[in-house]
Amino acid sequence: MRISVKNLLNSEKGQESVKLGGWVRTRRDSKEFSFIEVNDGSCLQGIQVIVDAGIPGSQELSKMSTGASIEVVGELVESPGQGQSWEVRAHEVKLLGSAPDDFPLQKKGHSAEFLRSIAHLRPRTNLYGAVFRMRSRLAYAVHRFFNERDFTYVHTPIITASDCEGAGEMFQVTTNASGKPEEDFFAKRSYLTVSGQLEGETFACALSNIYTFGPTFRAENSHTSRHAAEFWMIEPEMAFCDLEGDMDLAEEFMQFLVRDVLENNEGDLSIFERFVDRGLRSRLEALATGGFNRMSYTEAVERLQNSAKSFDYPVEWGMNLQSEHERYLCEEVVKGPLTVYNYPKSIKPFYMRSNDDGKTVTAMDVLVPGVGEIIGGSQREERYDLLKAAMEAHDLSDDHYGWYLDLRKYGTVPHAGFGAGFERLLMYVTGMQNIRDVIPFARTPGNCEF
Ligand code: 4AD
Ligand code: MG
Repeated sequence: MRISVKNLLNSEKGQESVKLGGWVRTRRDSKEFSFIEVNDGSCLQGIQVIVDAGIPGSQELSKMSTGASIEVVGELVESPGQGQSWEVRAHEVKLLGSAPDDFPLQKKGHSAEFLRSIAHLRPRTNLYGAVFRMRSRLAYAVHRFFNERDFTYVHTPIITASDCEGAGEMFQVTTNASGKPEEDFFAKRSYLTVSGQLEGETFACALSNIYTFGPTFRAENSHTSRHAAEFWMIEPEMAFCDLEGDMDLAEEFMQFLVRDVLENNEGDLSIFERFVDRGLRSRLEALATGGFNRMSYTEAVERLQNSAKSFDYPVEWGMNLQSEHERYLCEEVVKGPLTVYNYPKSIKPFYMRSNDDGKTVTAMDVLVPGVGEIIGGSQREERYDLLKAAMEAHDLSDDHYGWYLDLRKYGTVPHAGFGAGFERLLMYVTGMQNIRDVIPFARTPGNCEF
């Protein structure tokens, strides 16, 4: 039975016979023996394998170069070297696949841009191995958070006929060259979903507390380091809940995830601190233990207007906060995470609940230093007449959204939810600066490799 490098390194005692497989990181040869550092991606560290000249398989040693895959059977013994607890004295080595000299990951210190162009090989580097182990761990923590709170996991559709955000940034799904919707596969226009929220609401209005966690797609032509055309979103939705409860959940969610990372990802965090962001751990610890600031949109605009900084986008009430504003608010004004709420109605989607002032809606965004908006949510308009009027104002027809109005017709309840961008969460907990570097194969305008 093969044992992972992680389990070998965590072993409590030596073992006479172990088997492992992995990729060669480095090899040093002397006359009588060779040292091979083998990494199998189960953890950051590799394990040192000592191959004596003449053991079975050693005649192929010269081909066990950086990038080659090998299998080793040997004895797990305490390592005399510093900083490493265990090493393997090989009884037998086997070359599975050689890696010719053109293997691109020969030397350390490749640029992020170059590594994106070899996204099929970059998980074999220390840094990206750590990123994608973190991604897996964080996904698990998301499910644990909701599971511990009795939220039901709902799979909302990926193909949909509704444009949740109303921004028209949808990829069309079609099998029909003619372009006539009635001749198409679904006999109507259909798209890849931009959000599972509307369908999620139907389940919250039945099962009370639900969440979705799946891929979402946006055909927005944004060339920023924080936008991808395909990304994953987590969307809880709670019946019998208002904006206040929604903000509470969002902040608790962030803290839970960050604590989980601090407690369980020691090894991988250390590499992000060393190579990506020196202040990472202290930033995460501050969020895990400290509170969130809250500020209404109106106050946020005042703070921005009163600041000495000049922004590229001038600040006035009614505008969308740009990333420069969001980052200024949390990085300079409150110096930490910030939840902004009650945004102008005119810049928000149709489904948000109107406030009594007639100008704002119960929207909220969670902003964090370094990333900006990480979560966006709202209390939903649960009053039939007001929702119908909002839909008319947005040119949304009853034909398409009658089912959504029905939730307000039959046993309507106050309800609220939010969407958290999974890649943005990952950027926050790893310090990685570009969304393309926390998703296995990024889809951005002009880029659909692999
Ligand atoms: O703010 P958004 O657009 O909100 C919604 O879609 C709501 N329907 C969510 C809800 O209330 N259930 O998106 C939510 C989050 C953003 O805060 C951001 O983190 C992320 O999704 N996001 C993106 N991440 C990467 N690339 C993009 N193009 C993104 N657009 C949004
Ligand atoms: Mg948003």
